[in-house]
Amino acid sequence: SGPDTVSPTGQPTGADQARTAQSGSYLTTAQGTRLYDTDHSLKAGPRGPILLQDHHLREKIMHFDHERIPERVVHARGAGAHGVFRSYGTAANVTKAGFLAEDVETPVFVRFSTVLGSRGSSDTVRDTRGFATKFYTSEGVFDLVGNNIPVFFIQDAIKFPDVIHAGKPHPDREIPQAQSAHDTFWDFVTLHTEATHHTLWNMSDRGIPRSFRTMEGFGVHTFRLVDAAGGTTLVKFHWKPKLGVHSLVWEEAQLVNGMDPDFHRRDLADAIEAGAYPEWEFGIQTFPDTPDQTFEGIDLLDPTNIVPEELAPVQPIGLLTLNRNPSNFFAETEQVAFHPGHLVPGIDITDDPLLAGRLFSYLDTQITRLAGPNFAQIPINRPHAPVNDMLRDGFHQSAVHRGVAPYRPNSLDGGCPFTAGADMGAYIEAPVRVPEATKVREAPASFDDHFSQPRRFWLSMSPVEREHIIGAYSFELAKCYEQAIRERALQVLANIDPELCAGVAAGLGLPAPEPTVPLADVAPSPALSQIGHTWPTD
Ligand code: HEM
Repeated sequence: SGPDTVSPTGQPTGADQARTAQSGSYLTTAQGTRLYDTDHSLKAGPRGPILLQDHHLREKIMHFDHERIPERVVHARGAGAHGVFRSYGTAANVTKAGFLAEDVETPVFVRFSTVLGSRGSSDTVRDTRGFATKFYTSEGVFDLVGNNIPVFFIQDAIKFPDVIHAGKPHPDREIPQAQSAHDTFWDFVTLHTEATHHTLWNMSDRGIPRSFRTMEGFGVHTFRLVDAAGGTTLVKFHWKPKLGVHSLVWEEAQLVNGMDPDFHRRDLADAIEAGAYPEWEFGIQTFPDTPDQTFEGIDLLDPTNIVPEELAPVQPIGLLTLNRNPSNFFAETEQVAFHPGHLVPGIDITDDPLLAGRLFSYLDTQITRLAGPNFAQIPINRPHAPVNDMLRDGFHQSAVHRGVAPYRPNSLDGGCPFTAGADMGAYIEAPVRVPEATKVREAPASFDDHFSQPRRFWLSMSPVEREHIIGAYSFELAKCYEQAIRERALQVLANIDPELCAGVAAGLGLPAPEPTVPLADVAPSPALSQIGHTWPTD
């Protein structure tokens, strides 16, 4: 559906190639009229007033004035890279997705990001990192819009504006820029204790990764795979860095922040330029698609839960290699539009209430950020599969659609009937039963346990990782102005583990409270520790 001047891979052709290269032997206006001077405005005499009739002046300034687009409302600061995904075929028994069949190569674009800081903020702040991958498959675009932390702060998307308002700078002073060290953040996460698990990961070394190249990635939600016979399997997606998982230590992060705020994006670009291509293995944890959608007592629809790898090993299904830097940050990294609902045959969603809200939110925000509904036509967002939609017109429409009958079937434009089905490789939703139910605004009881998974994480940490976690809570909470918030945070920590609580309490010079819930009897999961990490497989 795009203009003829761009190839299916987004590369300009013909006249467009000369325009986008901006390397011709003479300059023109945007209308193609040759210019003889772009350095002087048209004036009434060399020292006289500038004339409004100078179209080149007006056009040049007008265009400059509108160069900036709104930054993303979250994940504004990011860095991207192109690459290729090669599938091993080991998922072919659980999904019919063509790009996961044996030895299929699929072009990808990946964007890493921080969540809370603005576009110009620093890289090595303590924060969650986005890890969003666009697979340009032959069956359409599949986006895996994940993070480097496998759980999320909230269980229902209706709270997303709240958690982000709490995490972004205070509305009065607009500080802090990109850290969790402030009252509203701690107020939120201690009043909404489902945030405990994600917060603990943030306070661990995972919150200050050494490099994008040494981060794990997670799809977070449970998804549903569909095989060729229509059978379904529940699944969690993982990215495992070939370089292993490594973080900075806090003091390093602080120094680097000052010396090179672009540390992570520079590291990514330099590595690719040097030919040290970053690699991740793609992996899945699979679970039977039972009616209750739980595994070993863990509610798979609750995005504050992980499933320990000891209970469900991560099976490698392919290799991602990032091998090309963007040539234009704006055109690629800034204009890329991910969406968790960009799915391909063989991959479907579940009823995770956080995922449902995301399915609405990304399209909605991109209408504003990318100024209208036609952002799928921007080269970086174009599918590498044929597009034959019937979407017309709108802001920034660049296609000149032919025909008079944008509906199917019709009897005017060649009469193409609308037929699609499994035999045509169409996307068909898994026939999942929707339970008969009464409308309610409430969470299931299985979403109520907010402390046993954080406790498992804490118990899985090595001594040095525990020391770092205690240091992080102590530093961040010390920045709160409100004593009551610090005290409430200690109560949350007491409900995870007495040693953690005592350590932070000592750091803050406050008494350590007793737990208000029984401490969960959970086994450690060695795979959660960066020290004991045993991936990659070879
Ligand atoms: C952006 C991940 C939850 C709304 C992003 C990005 C990532 C991400 C990686 C950046 C994409 C890019 O690089 O362009 C996640 C994960 C979540 C989550 C893993 C939970 C599991 C939510 C929820 C909402 C939301 C619940 C809203 C209901 C947004 C919005 C953007 C965004 C509006 C900006 C998109 C854009 O401007 O293109 N998210 N997110 N996210 N997320 Fe989420």
